[in-house]
Amino acid sequence: VRTRVAIVGAGPAGLLLSHLLAKAGIESVVIDQRTREEIETTIRAGILEQGTVAILDSIGPASRARTVGHRHDGIELRFDGEGHRIDFAALVDRGVWLYPQHEVLKDLIAARLADGQDLRFGVTAERVEDADTARPRIVAVDAEGAPLVIDAEFVVGADGSRSVVRGAVTGSSTGGYFREYPFAWFGVLCEAPPSAPELIYSNSANGFALISQRSATVQRMYFQCDPDVDPNSFTEAQLWEELQARVPGVDLQEGPIFQRDVLRFRSFVAFELRKGRAALVGDAAHTVPPTGAKGMNLAVADVVVLERALRALLLDGDERLIDAYAETALRRIWKAQHFSWWMTSMLHVAPGASDFDRLRQLGELSTVVESEAGRTYLAEAYTGWPLA
Ligand code: DHB
Repeated sequence: VRTRVAIVGAGPAGLLLSHLLAKAGIESVVIDQRTREEIETTIRAGILEQGTVAILDSIGPASRARTVGHRHDGIELRFDGEGHRIDFAALVDRGVWLYPQHEVLKDLIAARLADGQDLRFGVTAERVEDADTARPRIVAVDAEGAPLVIDAEFVVGADGSRSVVRGAVTGSSTGGYFREYPFAWFGVLCEAPPSAPELIYSNSANGFALISQRSATVQRMYFQCDPDVDPNSFTEAQLWEELQARVPGVDLQEGPIFQRDVLRFRSFVAFELRKGRAALVGDAAHTVPPTGAKGMNLAVADVVVLERALRALLLDGDERLIDAYAETALRRIWKAQHFSWWMTSMLHVAPGASDFDRLRQLGELSTVVESEAGRTYLAEAYTGWPLA
């Protein structure tokens, strides 16, 4: 197979990149080792920055973010048994959309296939070759186990945190700045009405909880847990007890829990984002802890920067933007890393936290909610800095 841009990974980053490239007249091939069904049903985060929704508008009515999703103009920060609204609309005149990532993926896959995109599921990339030449290629194995080689002019790793392309860019599959956290999130989906009009991010002496939503009848909730916990070791009654203990003062609307999972917490930024004719976007380039919902939004921001650079390179032979790709993308990546780390450290209770640590944390939370500058920083970062 021969194409201009070979993209590994049919997640939000890879699919959006193929769309933007196609709009610019640049053809690509997208491969993913998962099945379409797996991609469209894996439960991930649910918050889209305003800029992410605007980029998705470019696929036309296929994007249902504005029609099926819900605009949220604020969140509630809760601590010490009291809620404090962060009013995004009033503070920064921006909002976010609650629209689950797997729904974004359904929209993008439908739009790409309708557009005739060469999009192949069940294809496993094994390695990248000749990334330092103008003719890099991906060596892969297709769904039937047959070898598949994709010759291209540029190779993009949009293949997630266990990226295969990363090795060709950083020289190792792991090379990067890394931080682990001593806790995880226990996530549940339940059949119940919403417990509150907006998302609640709650700090309590018992740990963190996030009360999120999916629809009028399905809710998404998370609570801080030990990273080694077995998700099946809790009864439903115990899960409700854990959740309720972390949002004192809120009366949770309970209902049958039909999905449960444990999310690990890591911060990671690859040492290199681009080498020769290979570049990384999204989770292949970086991971953020989930607090603040930056993961998919950051992937979209990388793609906006890379697509512009690929247009200059492949249409005009201009290498300046691709040479600046890593530096440009990293500015936002480190801001998002800081925000995700900050929300995490401000809201969770680390195992072994002292009384000093707890009281300092309450001082920090009060500083944020009692100051318009503090609330404004949170609102700017949460709704998303302007796209480059
Ligand atoms: C959701 C996940 C997040 O990490 C977050 O910060 C907000 C919402 C969610 O899945 O709904």
